[in-house]
Amino acid sequence: MAAAPSSPPAAAAIMGFLFLAPLLIHFSTLLPAANSQNPEPTSFTYNGFHKANLLFDSQAKILPDGLLQLTNHTQLVTGHAFHHRTFNFNPNSSDSSLSFSTTFVFAMVPESPATGGHGIAFVISPTTDFTHAVASQHLGLFNSTNMGSESNHVVAVELDAMRSPEFQDIDDNHVGLDLNTLISTPSAPVSYVSDADGVNRTLRLLSGDRIQVWIRYDDGEKRMNITVAPFMTTSRPKKPLISTPVDLSAYLNESMYVGFSSSTSTVTSAQYILGWSFTKGEEEPPPLDLRLLPVSPRPSKPAKKLGTAPKVFLVILSISLIATAVGAYLLRLRRYRELREDWEKEYNPQRLCYKDLYRATHGFKEKEVLGSGGFGKVYRGILPKSKIEVAVKRISHDSRQGMKEFVAEIVSMGRLRHRNLVHLLGYCRRKGELLLVYDYMPNGSLDTFLFNDEKPILDWSSRYQILRGVASGLLYLHEEWEQVVLHRDIKASNVLLDADLNGRLGDFGLARLYDHGSNPQTTHVVGTVGYLAPEMSRLGKATTATDVYAFGVFMLEVACGKRPIDAQALPAEVILVDWVIDCWKRGAIWEAGDPKLAGEYAREEMAAVLKLGLYCSHNMPAFRPSMRQVMQYLDGDCNLPDVPLESSGIGAFAMGGRETSEFAMSSFPSSVVVGKDYTTVGSLSSTDSILHDGR
Ligand SMILES: *[C@@H]1O[C@H](CO)[C@@H](O)[C@H](O)[C@H]1NC(C)=O
Ligand SMILES: *[C@@H]1O[C@H](CO)[C@@H](O)[C@H](O)[C@H]1NC(C)=O
Ligand SMILES: *[C@@H]1O[C@H](CO)[C@@H](O)[C@H](O)[C@H]1NC(C)=O
Ligand SMILES: *[C@@H]1O[C@H](CO)[C@@H](O)[C@H](O)[C@H]1NC(C)=O
Ligand SMILES: *[C@@H]1O[C@H](CO)[C@@H](O)[C@H](O)[C@H]1NC(C)=O
Ligand SMILES: *[C@@H]1O[C@H](CO)[C@@H](O)[C@H](O)[C@H]1NC(C)=O
Repeated sequence: MAAAPSSPPAAAAIMGFLFLAPLLIHFSTLLPAANSQNPEPTSFTYNGFHKANLLFDSQAKILPDGLLQLTNHTQLVTGHAFHHRTFNFNPNSSDSSLSFSTTFVFAMVPESPATGGHGIAFVISPTTDFTHAVASQHLGLFNSTNMGSESNHVVAVELDAMRSPEFQDIDDNHVGLDLNTLISTPSAPVSYVSDADGVNRTLRLLSGDRIQVWIRYDDGEKRMNITVAPFMTTSRPKKPLISTPVDLSAYLNESMYVGFSSSTSTVTSAQYILGWSFTKGEEEPPPLDLRLLPVSPRPSKPAKKLGTAPKVFLVILSISLIATAVGAYLLRLRRYRELREDWEKEYNPQRLCYKDLYRATHGFKEKEVLGSGGFGKVYRGILPKSKIEVAVKRISHDSRQGMKEFVAEIVSMGRLRHRNLVHLLGYCRRKGELLLVYDYMPNGSLDTFLFNDEKPILDWSSRYQILRGVASGLLYLHEEWEQVVLHRDIKASNVLLDADLNGRLGDFGLARLYDHGSNPQTTHVVGTVGYLAPEMSRLGKATTATDVYAFGVFMLEVACGKRPIDAQALPAEVILVDWVIDCWKRGAIWEAGDPKLAGEYAREEMAAVLKLGLYCSHNMPAFRPSMRQVMQYLDGDCNLPDVPLESSGIGAFAMGGRETSEFAMSSFPSSVVVGKDYTTVGSLSSTDSILHDGR
């Protein structure tokens, strides 16, 4: 695996190359320099390293299954791997902030249990040439001459599995920040505080377990945060392990490589990186898709040797235990009984076992209930083995009819990966019950923030970010995945907020898939009143345009802090879309903005969001923008078009004898249609009165 273009080599590197050509054969320092006209991408993601473009030395290599192996069990060797091109970290260039963030998953598999070494370091370095560096406690970064030298320009975060007293190591299991030297300032034992229960837990580097690391440097704040967590923790724990003030501008320079260095000692570990993403700039690094990562080998277990006396004792003990166990087992069998059918075999990887879910939620205790919706209750839980925090949705269903199709859909949607979608981790089935397991979202649903006075008020910029996020999630569903996925039930209560208050679209329970290009099937109307596009109730057919309609209503809901239909409002119910149009007519559309924001927003931005909301919830599907256009408007990449006011087709829909509005985008006609056709739309008939009142 050789590498591709990198940036201009320093003169020294060329000289070095001439003498060290055989050693540097994998490095691409002589390949053409990157084109400086094209702005370089500022981030990359490797979910496994199959297609990775890396520079590495003779020890490091990519294994056939996509693992990046930095070292094997050979003693006293070093292994390095770097992203193929450099990043500009020159503190003096005006346009460049030194902020960066990265996340990666590693595993150290010791040769014999619990002894191994020496460790791995994430490195930012001006060079990829570490031929002079030594193994063991120097981690392949320095030798005894250049250790501590200011000319190194090396910033590293070490994961050190051996204690080297000469470098003042605190223990044999720590994380530390290394600036030109291996004397870490600061360092801390490898541990994390779980968001779920606030308990500080130690992680053993040499357990062979996969561990995820997040490193984030904020140039404005001049602070670096380092966080670790066990593999499969759904999001970065809120409390960083290390949060230290540091100014990296003294260490970084113009063209820096990012990568990993690793070394073995006289005791060894095979050291692996499973996945890695990096962003230069303020953004979070792209999230890793943990399920795509290759699997690292497990450490070999020591053979247990027992004398005969303990053996006899064990036999007697086991016989007496077996009797008790069988009894307990039969009881459990009942409690944990699942429903499995032959057609489900192919979904085994997505199948979770009921026992784990039962334990995760403490037996579906009331106090773990996060909420309840139309489908059933949602419980919070922590999966016993992986310690992932999850939300378990328990849906009761009586018939097996359609179950096969439903499970197929659900499993297929489990492959959807986007930072603004709530991920489905798996499912389980019992008699009369289906359980869906999702990422846990610590901040709950957006509607509680909008409508519940106990929650803090979301400021305008958070709301804008949430709208942008949800739009990008929906764009992914509509256009960027292998199939078109219709969400069918976009609304504030289906948007969940993660730890960083990013909006994530959840609850695909109603979504249906259909292949690109084929016709969506006509089925019964699903969705929520107030978010249903007019043609939806008329034709009973969901399309991407009906999703856009609901998204438009959702935008208004977020901007105005009002529900789409407020049946309690006096003197008559208020239909949000109509009300925004009224404000628009008065020439002061921004007045529709949520009063709780106390005017703290840019009027133009508020006006643009409201207009875009109206435009999305246009009565005529043809006038609604696509989600891609919505994204462009939200990003300010193009201006809002003048919504065609005359040709909005109000005449075709207005049947309620309502005055035709020149703004012609009333939601009212849609309610009329729903009301009129309610006999064919059984599930909606209960809302009939709401729709007819106040007309
Ligand atoms: C480690 O890898 C090197 C070459 O990459 C190989 O020569 C050596 O035998 C390997 N050692 C072990 C212990 O697997
Ligand atoms: C240490 O490394 C530097 C360059 O990185 C090199 O010039 C020097 O010769 C090395 N010293 C030893 C003792 O190997
Ligand atoms: C580091 O963590 C602290 C405490 O959680 C937080 O306030 C700060 O914004 C974080 N800084 C970065 C650069 O992530
Ligand atoms: C966990 O506790 C140890 C020992 O008190 C401490 O050094 C470490 O910083 C704690 N970890 C976190 C993530 O706070
Ligand atoms: C930064 O790199 C440039 C070459 O790109 C070099 O000339 C300069 O000396 C370096 N600056 C520092 C402070 O080392
Ligand atoms: C940036 O400017 C400062 C002061 O002018 C200088 O000392 C430093 O070496 C420069 N750094 C780089 C990387 O050019």
